Amino acid sequence: MEIKKITCIGAGYVGGPTMSVIAQKNPDIQVTVVDLNAQRIADWNQDDLSQLPVYEPGLDAVVAEARGRNLFFSTEVEKAIQEADMIFISVNTPTKTYGKGKGQAADLKFIELCARQIADVSTSSKIIVEKSTIPVRTAATIKNILDHTGKGVQFQVLSNPEFLAEGTAIRDLHHPDRILIGGENPEAIQALKKIYEAWVPSERIITTNLWSSELSKLVANAFLAQRVSSINSISELCEATGANVDEVANAIGQDSRIGSKFLKASVGFGGSCFQKDLLNLVYIARSYNLHAVADYWDQVIKINDHQKTRFAEKIIQTMYNTVNGKKIAFLGWAFKKDTNDTRESAAIYVADHLLEEQAQIAVYDPKVQDVQIYKDLDYLATRSLEENKSLLQVKTNPYDAAAGAHGLAILTEWDEFRDLDWGKIKTQMKKPAFIFDGRKLLDGKKLTEMGFVYYAIGE
Ligand code: NAI
Repeated sequence: MEIKKITCIGAGYVGGPTMSVIAQKNPDIQVTVVDLNAQRIADWNQDDLSQLPVYEPGLDAVVAEARGRNLFFSTEVEKAIQEADMIFISVNTPTKTYGKGKGQAADLKFIELCARQIADVSTSSKIIVEKSTIPVRTAATIKNILDHTGKGVQFQVLSNPEFLAEGTAIRDLHHPDRILIGGENPEAIQALKKIYEAWVPSERIITTNLWSSELSKLVANAFLAQRVSSINSISELCEATGANVDEVANAIGQDSRIGSKFLKASVGFGGSCFQKDLLNLVYIARSYNLHAVADYWDQVIKINDHQKTRFAEKIIQTMYNTVNGKKIAFLGWAFKKDTNDTRESAAIYVADHLLEEQAQIAVYDPKVQDVQIYKDLDYLATRSLEENKSLLQVKTNPYDAAAGAHGLAILTEWDEFRDLDWGKIKTQMKKPAFIFDGRKLLDGKKLTEMGFVYYAIGE
């Protein structure tokens, strides 16, 4: 099975970067990324590479190399499906917001639409690759739709979950720890393997059955999120006992069975995946009546919610139990550094909590636009857009955000925050000048010496 043309449905945070790298490393394969969102496609096609719809370090160079050569972004979904030998489905699979499984199950309507569209327009055999994160056994649904509504052409379905992390997507794609391919048909598996072998050593390509592959993605995210919640739960105990969570993390991380990565306490994890995939895992476990399993993983989410609330409460309590009318500067809105993605960012929930207490918030984030920030708050529907706009302002530099503030909170670990002129900020802020470091980013000792009242999680 020789693959000459690939189509990817979904030009988002996964589809865009992943296909850019596949095209970069396979110049003989034509890669077309399609999306229903015409604006997104226009943004991928624009000349100014600093304005691509996804911000990732190094992505601009990869796009510059491949775009127009063998990488194309298009809104012509049907044409691209028809022409392709292999189709990646990389559409969003958010948590359901309605009906059965509301707030827990994955919403598979976009996946099903893709399958139906592929079945409707395909006139030649194709390999369909699930790139989106989906509940275990979804491949059976996709295959069923394809086989029952298709025009008698052959479809092979593979699972190939994506493990990239936002902020390091290009590095992760260039040097993956592993590539996972699940499937039943050896030829189809081999065809996909060959594409990755253009740059990934073959011993790093794992093949499994379909269900192991689908489930592994949910389990990987559940384990990662669990580490964050584990250390975050200990951060509260550290604050109560006089232990220091960084020292504890370092001491336990030296044990090779535990390992040192992903042990940084913080205001809580965000991002589009961890919570969604955990909720989904919990839902699946419950649907098989495995309630003890479901309860175990549910607790990871509960600790994360608790950590965000606890941080907001700490701000209020430290500032003499009221933030009414007080200005609080937020440095960072993205869910982590080096991305413009704000989905499920801890900043949104901490802001919402403080706005309920009538605080005035001024936000600065180097990569997130004001429109997105208001959209994130609006989505919670706690108050009207007008109220959000009157209580929260977005600034284009950190000094404007801090000017006249009673307190300042670090919500995203952007490197540039370390190097700010903290002396200048101190002069501009009201006294006592409180800093709440939700990312344990700054040099607390130095800031305390400068006269700030500094609080960091887990100390
Ligand atoms: P996204 O929301 O950024 O992108 C999805 C895109 O698919 C959107 O642009 C949307 O317009 C498009 N789309 C939806 N239905 C379509 C259709 N029928 N035809 C054409 N386009 C359609 O989502 P993102 O973050 O790229 O995630 C995609 C999948 O990858 C999800 O299942 C997610 O769980 C998974 N994933 C995400 C990671 C991340 O870091 N964001 C990492 C690993 C997996």
